[in-house]
Amino acid sequence: MEVGIAFDLKSDFSAHPDGPEDRFEEYDSEGTVGAIFHALESNGYRARRLGGGRRFVEEALRKPPDLVFNIAEGFGTRSREAHVPSVCEMLRIPYTHSDPLTCAVTLEKAEAKRVVASHGIPTPRFAVVERPEQAEDLPLSFPVISKPLWEGSSMGIRRTSRATDPASLAETVGRLVGDYGQPVLVEEFCSGPEFTVGILGDGRPEAIAVMEIVPRVDRPEEFVYSLEVKRNYKVEVEYRVPPGRPRELLRAVEDVALGAYRALGCRDVGRVDIRVGADGEPKFLEVNPLPGLNPVTSDIVILAGKAGMPYNDLIGKIVENARRRLSI
Ligand SMILES: Nc1ncnc2c1ncn2[C@@H]1O[C@H](COP(=O)(O)OP(=O)(O)OP(=O)(O)O)[C@@H](O)[C@H]1O
Ligand SMILES: [Mg+2]
Repeated sequence: MEVGIAFDLKSDFSAHPDGPEDRFEEYDSEGTVGAIFHALESNGYRARRLGGGRRFVEEALRKPPDLVFNIAEGFGTRSREAHVPSVCEMLRIPYTHSDPLTCAVTLEKAEAKRVVASHGIPTPRFAVVERPEQAEDLPLSFPVISKPLWEGSSMGIRRTSRATDPASLAETVGRLVGDYGQPVLVEEFCSGPEFTVGILGDGRPEAIAVMEIVPRVDRPEEFVYSLEVKRNYKVEVEYRVPPGRPRELLRAVEDVALGAYRALGCRDVGRVDIRVGADGEPKFLEVNPLPGLNPVTSDIVILAGKAGMPYNDLIGKIVENARRRLSI
């Protein structure tokens, strides 16, 4: 079986020199694509690089693979992560990971929160704003955190994204709107521990493991797993699998993660970020239906490794899930 990898590389976008320094943070490195290529081959598949954007469309038309392994983040809009799955559906090429609707809804963090909340799953109270002046009279309690409405990989999220008063919130909102050209999600800040949960499957998804992200430098109640921290993770955080927390709390974290994954219709693989509020309740922050798969630095790879699932097995299981779902 030939498995074609759909991906976007940071280096593909050098023709877009303007914007904030993290504007290509979502895109992959050749190292990640190479690691997936070798993992696919070690699982007995013939691997092929398809690339992203126009090149992906041309390759898919020229010689459709038996299955597309999709990690393409797409470019430019809140539907960018739905581009490759939409083309695959149109050309009737089977593909891994979630479908276009799920990829679009999950990238738009407020829409994802509305869906999840409608299923009775706790998520921090929030507002969507487009102008700094709106920071003055939001029906939210401080501290809050603000983030671009439809980005990932901590784009736009810094230590300073946590605001304790309307003036500093207005400053962050102004920066985000200016830098990313999109609305801003403002959310009540959860000061408790942070977890991320790796999940495999659909219908009846299962958690690979719950991993706690423990700050080594920042005060835990003010910690933001920001761009600065992710780029310097070896110094700034410790990853704990299993976390040394009460069993009931970990079960609640896993329930929120699996509930959100199901509510949003995720398939094959995903990673759900969760934070405990001041009330002690775990709350849904976001789900990543295309979680980073760098063999060394990506959270789902780290948590799988700590849970005894090597990289090649993780990639193999994503493909197996897709094949089972598609009966191919
Ligand atoms: N409501 C909140 N309360 C406390 N911390 C939060 C909240 N929202 C976000 N954070 C912090 O900011 C980090 C990044 O937020 P989020 O996961 O929404 O962004 P992202 O850029 O999509 O992340 P990823 O790198 O996982 O794609 C979280 O991991 C968490 O540390
Ligand atoms: Mg996240």
